[in-house]
Amino acid sequence: MNKWWQTGIVYQIYPRSFQDSNGDGVGDLPGIEQRLGYLHDLGIDAIWISPIYPSPMADFGYDVSNYTDIHPLFGTMADMDRLMAAVHDHNLKLILDFVPNHTSNEHPWFLESRSSRDNPRRDWYIWRDPAPDGGPPNNWLSRFDGSAWEWDAQTGQYYLHSFLAEQPDVNWRNPELRAAMLAVLRFWFEKGVDGFRIDVSYRTMKDAQFRDNPPNPNWRPGMDPAKQVIETYTRNTPDIEQFNRWLREVCDEYDDRVLIGEINLPPHELVLHYGRSLDGLHLPFNFNLLFTPWDAAIIHQLIETYENVLPEGAWPNWVLGNHDQHRIASRIGPDQARVAMMLLLTLRGTPTLYNGDELGMLDGDIAPDQVQDPWEKRVPGLGLGRDPERTPMPWTAAPNAGFCPPDVTPWLPLNADAAAVNVASQRTNPDSMLVFTEKLIQLRRETAALHHGTYQSLPAPNGMLAYERRHGHQARWIVLNMTGEPKTWALPERGGGTAVLLTTASTVPTLTGDSLPLRPNEGVILSV
Ligand code: GLC
Repeated sequence: MNKWWQTGIVYQIYPRSFQDSNGDGVGDLPGIEQRLGYLHDLGIDAIWISPIYPSPMADFGYDVSNYTDIHPLFGTMADMDRLMAAVHDHNLKLILDFVPNHTSNEHPWFLESRSSRDNPRRDWYIWRDPAPDGGPPNNWLSRFDGSAWEWDAQTGQYYLHSFLAEQPDVNWRNPELRAAMLAVLRFWFEKGVDGFRIDVSYRTMKDAQFRDNPPNPNWRPGMDPAKQVIETYTRNTPDIEQFNRWLREVCDEYDDRVLIGEINLPPHELVLHYGRSLDGLHLPFNFNLLFTPWDAAIIHQLIETYENVLPEGAWPNWVLGNHDQHRIASRIGPDQARVAMMLLLTLRGTPTLYNGDELGMLDGDIAPDQVQDPWEKRVPGLGLGRDPERTPMPWTAAPNAGFCPPDVTPWLPLNADAAAVNVASQRTNPDSMLVFTEKLIQLRRETAALHHGTYQSLPAPNGMLAYERRHGHQARWIVLNMTGEPKTWALPERGGGTAVLLTTASTVPTLTGDSLPLRPNEGVILSV
């Protein structure tokens, strides 16, 4: 029997940008509740909501100051309880974000920890003496620029922060901190949350000896400054498997919950997070489509590699977009976005869809005085900023697109094309990206070959990707033209009885004997 998180589709909601219900220009929990009908009709199975906890918002909620409450911007605990019940009434699942690597510097745990060297919670965070020259203890870098160590004059030590100084890293080797963090999981599981997406889970255990990271010989000025070193000792250290097991043990106290890890690693390293006896994370996120050049041969190789290194019994998954990466339609072009959606929804494994990608949303244009992301503020101009992919969801053609009232300034600007690219206008256009995505999701839901069948690659000429998904006698061929040129695909067998089911284009191509002509940027699913 497959689990819901295996056959289902996960939909990521960036809550600040989904739906504002109280007219403050920021999305909130009641706003999500209002849109559950939309999500249900879209056909997804689970929503994952980025952090909604109390937070000073130095990193837009990824700096949590209380793990078991709701930030007033997003609503109240009563709103959360109502949302959870409504999600379940819609036959959907609810996944929350768990941020275990760091807290906010305003979390009471950190306030205590930094208050004195002998505070009982001192060791809940990672404090070190200066190097002999008085500088930081080692060369570890913050992902958001500069040293990962912040000097604390009052207690004469440095504390570690893998991200902003406002996000001190906690010490998972301390049993009390561990128990406090695991209690957070239990708190939400008891309330009925169906699972967690675990923020930078692969960074939670650092080298116990605090060794320097090796320099990166390929780094050049103009590249992400954090990449000046190779992160040998700050992520994916061997004892990460223990961390995964701690979480899994708690998860297994409850029925049918899921743990999804945010892991940005190549396939052979990422699969270790399933655990040696599949006792780790259920779904270590596979981000490789986010970083692989959009080239059929390279993507073919990626799929083969991933399928080959997956441990026996481990369930695959694929991700095309999230709140940290430029939108897929901007990365590969709007014409290829449909092909990408077809790829995501027909590969073997759980797909995660980022809100707005079902409309083919592009990155928004953010003027310098509109920048919100702390990363862009600290390292401007390198394209690292994440505001463009976080712009509000366009629901209608009205001013502010139904995201917030017309006379309110949203926290980030709506996309310039929101009057044309929005849910209402796409809903009534049979050729829209939204209607295409809905059809694709529907087809995936009703076709066992697509939601739990095997994967087998098929021969294809340059620029094309072809594969078979099969469950028993049911088989589907997926044929993707990943170029802007017309292509012809030779059917692997003489195509008696082969019917075209779905294509990215509005008209269906004609099968001529044993060949299938594809237009530029076209993808086709064939029933075999
Ligand atoms: C993850 C989040 C990102 C955040 C970072 C620090 O990568 O997805 O948005 O800035 O962790 O918590």
